[in-house]
Amino acid sequence: MAILRLVATVPQSVLAAPARCDYNSLMIFYQIDAGGDRNFAYLVGDEDAKRAALIDPPPNSGRYMKLVEKHDLGIDYVVVTHGHGDHTWGVSEAIERFDCKFVGHKSIAAGIDIPVGDGDTLPLGTLTMEFIYTPGHTDDAICVLCGDKLVTGDTLFVGKVGGTDLGTGARKEWDSLHKLMKLDPKVEVWPGHDFGVAPSSTIGHELESNPFLLRKTFEEFVDLKVNWLDYKRKHGIP
Ligand SMILES: [Fe+2]
Repeated sequence: MAILRLVATVPQSVLAAPARCDYNSLMIFYQIDAGGDRNFAYLVGDEDAKRAALIDPPPNSGRYMKLVEKHDLGIDYVVVTHGHGDHTWGVSEAIERFDCKFVGHKSIAAGIDIPVGDGDTLPLGTLTMEFIYTPGHTDDAICVLCGDKLVTGDTLFVGKVGGTDLGTGARKEWDSLHKLMKLDPKVEVWPGHDFGVAPSSTIGHELESNPFLLRKTFEEFVDLKVNWLDYKRKHGIP
């Protein structure tokens, strides 16, 4: 975890060592500064098999190419956590560069090579990516679980949750978040934006500290969304 936090907080151009994970080979996992509104992209792969995936890649491939070249990786997939422009903006460049498959939730109609739904998996060398359907912020939102790392897109941030309307979207997000909270508390949370007090967290930490997840009822959850600016001011949250 310490190594990954280092990766998360240094400029994307700095090449850090991969972290050992619960597999027979090294799992490569990088959080990449993707520009935009403090967007994060991710590079995840199998060091031995040299197979990897880019998640929500930025349009400027210079932000990840040094890492791909350093590990001599073949990119099998470009995955988007949802269809918003600041998460799909780098898909075309990545596909042209790597001739890889475009993966997204099956409700994204345009250009998807591998449509996925809840519980679907894809191999990544000896690793497995599992997709968890988490509608709410958008109807096409997915989270990506690989080993003990969960890439949460705009569904769950560190200490925050994704923006929704206050009706159906909020209800779907409430259900999605509580689905994620059933994962092992040690699972690491890697969000789509650097909106929180830290660039990553764990399910256990979010359960104990995320004010939206501490709300006991859906009505209280929505009430916090309505009064979020006041809450932030009162609690000194940036
Ligand atoms: Fe979004």
